[in-house]
Amino acid sequence: MLNAEIKGTGMYVPEKVLTNFDLEKLVDTSDDWIKERTGISERRIAADNQAPSDLALEASKIALSSAGLDAKDLDMIIVCTSTPDIIFPSTACFLQKKLEAGNCAAYDISAVCSGFVFGLSIAEQYIKSGRYQNILVVATEVNSRIVDWKDRSTCVIFGDGSGAMILSKTESSEKIGILSTHIYSDGGYSDLIQNPGGFGKERISKEALEANKFVIKMDGGPTFKLAVRRMTEVSLEALKFNGYTLDDVDWVVPHQANQRIIDAVGAKLKIPKEKVAANIQKYGNTSAASIPIAFHEWTNSNKIKSGDLILMPVLGAGLTWGAALVKW
Ligand code: UT7
Repeated sequence: MLNAEIKGTGMYVPEKVLTNFDLEKLVDTSDDWIKERTGISERRIAADNQAPSDLALEASKIALSSAGLDAKDLDMIIVCTSTPDIIFPSTACFLQKKLEAGNCAAYDISAVCSGFVFGLSIAEQYIKSGRYQNILVVATEVNSRIVDWKDRSTCVIFGDGSGAMILSKTESSEKIGILSTHIYSDGGYSDLIQNPGGFGKERISKEALEANKFVIKMDGGPTFKLAVRRMTEVSLEALKFNGYTLDDVDWVVPHQANQRIIDAVGAKLKIPKEKVAANIQKYGNTSAASIPIAFHEWTNSNKIKSGDLILMPVLGAGLTWGAALVKW
């Protein structure tokens, strides 16, 4: 059978560290509140001269090298981001140029925090249909550029980073790699998390800037509840679809939105805490990049071992949500 095998992974986070103590100087918050309510101690912030495509370049180079591939071997580049370099051309086209890849299709997808799982889902279909050999899926976010540094309910949460995966077509008698992906959206909740500034809807104007429209706005409470419910539901769906039960799961690598969401999803699924990957304390919520960053760290440190079954659930603005089930 044809598999979408994970041939390589990579990650990159900027050097600059912003601690909770640094944030205490910006807004009315405390290290204790942020740690207790989110699990975050620090996050990374891109340098002024680093664009999202620069972060993606570093993560992609590591993924290509671990896959033993050259950028010219790529048949497609999918960039998952809600902080593109500019509105157009796509960040994927900038990345393609920086990587010196060939003329493969390169495009961005927008599913906010769920972007990486949505991107994997597209790549999985192209590979399992036999159409393409190697696809780079890379999530990259520079949230620090769209965060409102005066809004304590959001600025303490987000961070910058990039995570990449190369999916390659392989044949084997056993299923490996991406076993399945399950993706959903509900536009009815589009006002829960938004960057409401215009672009196509409204001209960028002094008035729109003064109304502070070009930043992340989030209604955290309802989002939190929906995240726990939807991430749990879709995890169970992914397991059932593949004939597995919760006992078969070796690791959950969830979206890193809030340590309390991670813990609640783990508890609802009755998965022991030591089987749930969490690095939110170091990087905060890096939106679409959080799952591939955690997956890279967990596979590279040999916590995830060959043959392990891994669940990757996510929820993000849109609302969008989904899960990938992976055999490593
Ligand atoms: O990644 C995409 C999906 N995103 C998510 O899943 C995020 C989901 N939501 C969350 O993670 C949480 O709702 C937050 C971390 C955003 C907020 O935590 P919370 O426990 O839901 O706090 P809250 O909004 O209910 O606020 C509780 C209190 C409020 O004060 P009062 O009204 O009780 O006096 C807030 O004003 O905490 C206050 N507060 C803060 N205090 C200190 C809110 N932010 C802060 C802060 N520092 N940074």
